[in-house]
Amino acid sequence: DTPSYYEFIDSHQIEKRYRPIKPHAHKGTQGHALIIGGSYGKIGAVCLSAKAALKSGCGLVTAYLPKCGYEIIQSSFPEAMALTDGDEHITKIGFELQPKAVGLGPGIGQHPETQQAIHDFLKLATVPMVIDADALNILSYNKEWLEHLPENSILTPHPKELERLLGKWDNDFDKLEKAKAFSTQYKLVIVAKDAHTFIVNGNSVYINSTGNAALATGGTGDVLTGIITGLLAQGYVAADAAVLGVYLHGLTADIAVTETGHQAFTASDVINYLGKAYLKIE
Ligand code: APR
Ligand code: MG
Repeated sequence: DTPSYYEFIDSHQIEKRYRPIKPHAHKGTQGHALIIGGSYGKIGAVCLSAKAALKSGCGLVTAYLPKCGYEIIQSSFPEAMALTDGDEHITKIGFELQPKAVGLGPGIGQHPETQQAIHDFLKLATVPMVIDADALNILSYNKEWLEHLPENSILTPHPKELERLLGKWDNDFDKLEKAKAFSTQYKLVIVAKDAHTFIVNGNSVYINSTGNAALATGGTGDVLTGIITGLLAQGYVAADAAVLGVYLHGLTADIAVTETGHQAFTASDVINYLGKAYLKIE
């Protein structure tokens, strides 16, 4: 039997993985993240995700979204560059950029044209990716597409999305075994989001120690996708990006609740408190 490792993600784990920004860094060395998502009524998801990617420390962020979101993102988040396609949903994913990492899925929807666009894009993809939300659901319905995902890629399912991906499990032990088998088969890191998020990288399992119920509010998952994509763009390997991203994401809520309380905390506050979370791990 292959041995299993369960590690608690605490400050020591983070110390081992975190790399501070070097004094001579410039935007070109900090990595370019591309966030692909959004559809009519769900443009906020891609705005949140793109903003979180930049706040995680990468040098440049481009958002790829439908035309109906162009003015929204340009005015709400001027630091991002924007590329558009389709009127109300993504119909084709084509660009000439060379991002270091891609986040795919926040608010993207499941329009048949979008599903085809995701399929065609994945066949040509070469950089590490974070797959979330409806992009993840679409891959769950078409598991053979998972084979196209580049090495060092990450899936970020919430409990329902995890069930679509793995099938029903009998108990927590079975869930973990299924997740390890899946991660090993497809060579992907799984971030199984929940009140206690766990990360699976082959047979290694990491359980997060930060976060609280203030995060139980719409859009916090989209923000997590942005943070992890931003870390991948900065050159972290998938398991480190996932561990560090999940820890920082939870830490924002732990810091914020002492100032805002639980109820008033929103997904934008995860982004607002990311700086304080970084200060705490430095
Ligand atoms: N304690 C700690 N963390 C929590 C808690 C809690 N009680 N509740 C939620 N979280 C964290 C999760 O670990 C995860 O990181 O908040 C985040 C929630 O992520 P999602 O469930 O993906 O929520 P959201 O961002 O609103 O998703 C947006 O995308 O996945 C689709 O269909 C989904 O419409 C939804 C959309
Ligand atoms: Mg989500």
